[in-house]
Amino acid sequence: MSTGPGLGRPDRAAETPDEQPSGRDENAQPPSAGGTQGSAGQGTMPSGHAMWGNTTSGTAENVGYVPTNTGAQPPEPRKGRKQGESELVREALKDAKVSHETSATGVRTVPGRGDREWPRPDKCRVITIANQKGGVGKTTSSVNLAASLALHGAQVLVVDLDPQGNASTALGVEHHAEVPSIYEVLIEDMPLGDIVVPAPEIPNLYCAPATLNLAGAEIELVSKVARESRLRRALDSYEIEKFDYVLIDCPPSLGLLTVNALVGGDELLIPIQCEYYALEGLGQLIRTVDLVKAHLNPKLKVSTILLTMYDARTRLAAQVAEDVRSHFGDVVLNTVIPRSVRVSEAPSYGQSVITYDPGSSGALAYREAASEMAHGGTVQ
Ligand SMILES: Nc1ncnc2c1ncn2[C@@H]1O[C@H](COP(=O)(O)OP(=O)(O)O)[C@@H](O)[C@H]1O
Ligand SMILES: [Mg+2]
Repeated sequence: MSTGPGLGRPDRAAETPDEQPSGRDENAQPPSAGGTQGSAGQGTMPSGHAMWGNTTSGTAENVGYVPTNTGAQPPEPRKGRKQGESELVREALKDAKVSHETSATGVRTVPGRGDREWPRPDKCRVITIANQKGGVGKTTSSVNLAASLALHGAQVLVVDLDPQGNASTALGVEHHAEVPSIYEVLIEDMPLGDIVVPAPEIPNLYCAPATLNLAGAEIELVSKVARESRLRRALDSYEIEKFDYVLIDCPPSLGLLTVNALVGGDELLIPIQCEYYALEGLGQLIRTVDLVKAHLNPKLKVSTILLTMYDARTRLAAQVAEDVRSHFGDVVLNTVIPRSVRVSEAPSYGQSVITYDPGSSGALAYREAASEMAHGGTVQ
């Protein structure tokens, strides 16, 4: 796949101090085919990542750890207000019924896998990544979580459901108008298997691309039979069990494309940008989820909230993070994604930040968040 100038090697001189890479990038290498050992119970978790902005990200201690099979690092004890008492979030969630269900997906450790591999779920986890607000990190999170999971041994499919095709771009997958895409699947009943292509940079990672044609789908879907369930039907008639994870990247709206993603998914991951306005509209999203749950997809649960673009220099970011945690509790991942230049540069090279600059704070944080997702809900 062609990349932009610089061929994916970042210019170290341009880095901010907190993004100095460790110089160790072995974790970014794909696991060897048919690896060798089980991964359960080995090694230690990196320290102090509950609030990424406060940690020494990018240091060797954060690279190359071997995840245990005992679940994600327990959350830091919560200080201050009790869950649900936050003013900011309470305002944002007016009238919304919030489920506090946690993800309890069973995981199995796969014998005969390399020690850098994470446990894989018993059955395919279909995770919808949605937030009707634009620019909160949906696509960035879809791509980088998917890349991290794939590089640790999982088979991962990213379904790009945004007409802008940003996830397809970031994965280095072609998505010009002639490419068979998710549009043909939703509107013309093309089998999903006919459009899925491998992401060229990362083994085990696949993409169902989106083209600009999808922009018309919101309207065209209106008159279709089972208009809200067309993605679910496509997934059901595809062998998704060959994947460990299907991540669905949604457009910034609550239209029929997002509803299709909510009906198609078992879990919802909501990225929340650590800024005040990021909380606006959260109530509407939760209410939509409740409606979908009541009428179309009872399995759907808000399993994960990921705090993105955290700027450790601002008090507001910490306040938003604290409020979201106090309201949503354990579904909020401990790992917070910092604002990082590398994260925003990577897509222009057709890459995830995980391959673009594996030692950068953004790459380390996304890997850590993916590890929490892979290890979360471990049933012993
Ligand atoms: N952690 C981050 N640090 C810096 N820039 C980021 C980060 N996450 C996302 N961005 C940038 O913010 C913009 C919006 O992110 P994106 O993932 O496209 O949001 P969405 O899909 O929700 O619209 C993009 O330009 C992206 O590169
Ligand atoms: Mg997007």
